[in-house]
Amino acid sequence: MSWTTLNQMDLYGKRVLTRVDLNVPMVDGKIADATRIEKIVPTINEIIKKGGTPILLAHMGRPKGKRHQNLSLSQLQEELETYFKSKVIFVADCIGPSVETALKIVKKGEIILLENIRFYPEEEKNDPKFAASLAALADLFCNDAFSVAHRAHASTTGLAKYLPSCAGKLMENELKALESVLDQPKRPVVTVVGGAKISTKIALIENLIEQVDSIIIGGAMANTFLFSKGFSVGRSLVEESLKPTALRILNKAEKYSCEIILPTDLVIAKELSENTPTLVVSANKCPDKYMILDAGPSTVDNIQKCINSAKTLLWNGPLGAFEVTPFDQATSQAAKFASQKTNNGDLISVAGGGDTVAALNKAGATDSFTYVSTAGGAFLEWLEGKELPGVVCLNKI
Ligand code: 3PG
Repeated sequence: MSWTTLNQMDLYGKRVLTRVDLNVPMVDGKIADATRIEKIVPTINEIIKKGGTPILLAHMGRPKGKRHQNLSLSQLQEELETYFKSKVIFVADCIGPSVETALKIVKKGEIILLENIRFYPEEEKNDPKFAASLAALADLFCNDAFSVAHRAHASTTGLAKYLPSCAGKLMENELKALESVLDQPKRPVVTVVGGAKISTKIALIENLIEQVDSIIIGGAMANTFLFSKGFSVGRSLVEESLKPTALRILNKAEKYSCEIILPTDLVIAKELSENTPTLVVSANKCPDKYMILDAGPSTVDNIQKCINSAKTLLWNGPLGAFEVTPFDQATSQAAKFASQKTNNGDLISVAGGGDTVAALNKAGATDSFTYVSTAGGAFLEWLEGKELPGVVCLNKI
């Protein structure tokens, strides 16, 4: 696929409606993780450097068309000024007289930040009149929010009907990284699919089976596969009703010659708590009173061998209950191994979606991966093989 990029646009003297993802985690009114802000800095700088005025459009949370002060983007203004090293003019609306005034007073090199776009019910309805009113504020639309590209909203797709549109630098990087993994990857391609529930990842696994060489299944999701094979899983988290699905997935993998790697040994405990006593048992021997909470050392060994033979690694989801020590070990050891191989230039490693970034951060592996996506749901939908409306609308015809 090919997109119009920011580089291809004439930005001089132009007002650029720039869709970014400012849905950052907040604790007590403070930003708990600014990764999404850091990643949009190059786009904002580029627009300013080339003589344009960025008008930021973003959402925070899911206010469902109503104003909620705790989800106002005003609380990000100062922090954004620090990251962008420019004045940020906050406007408490997205359309109307106050926005018009800001557009009149904004100086070259300054940025306008509009209020949480989801305070308007028209946003999620992708209302064409609303999109047209937004479009009337600017000359160009730059979408730099890959992480919201799975939503067909006024600010993600609607605007593209009214304005010349392009992908921002972060959007471009995300798309290039994802294409390098599934479009024409260096093979073998190995995927880690972890997390609690197979029910949330059925479509994703079924799509990957058709494209990758091996899938390492971890986290509580693996328990459902072990249960389906008739193994005892004690009190572990299992989706029993999905036994037919798990068996169908294993059959499909065989048909496509995609190797599925399940745990061969397990770290088990009587409770999920910090430093509780643990045991290592074979994958078919979890006693009644125990829970499976991580993959065991032989499994980690298998995973490392599999990653060692790979040229490309796609990682989504943790291999165990990584939030609680010591059940972070399998994730941590496998992630460190992948980091080293990436650092040596032997592996392209791309990660993203849900808990993945938190798990890799805990392992101290994030910086060494080739690319770590800022996206959660959008990353998963992309792995499912779905077309993302926020990307499709930027396609060159
Ligand atoms: C995210 O945090 O994944 C994005 O900001 C999208 O948010 P949403 O799931 O509320 O659309």
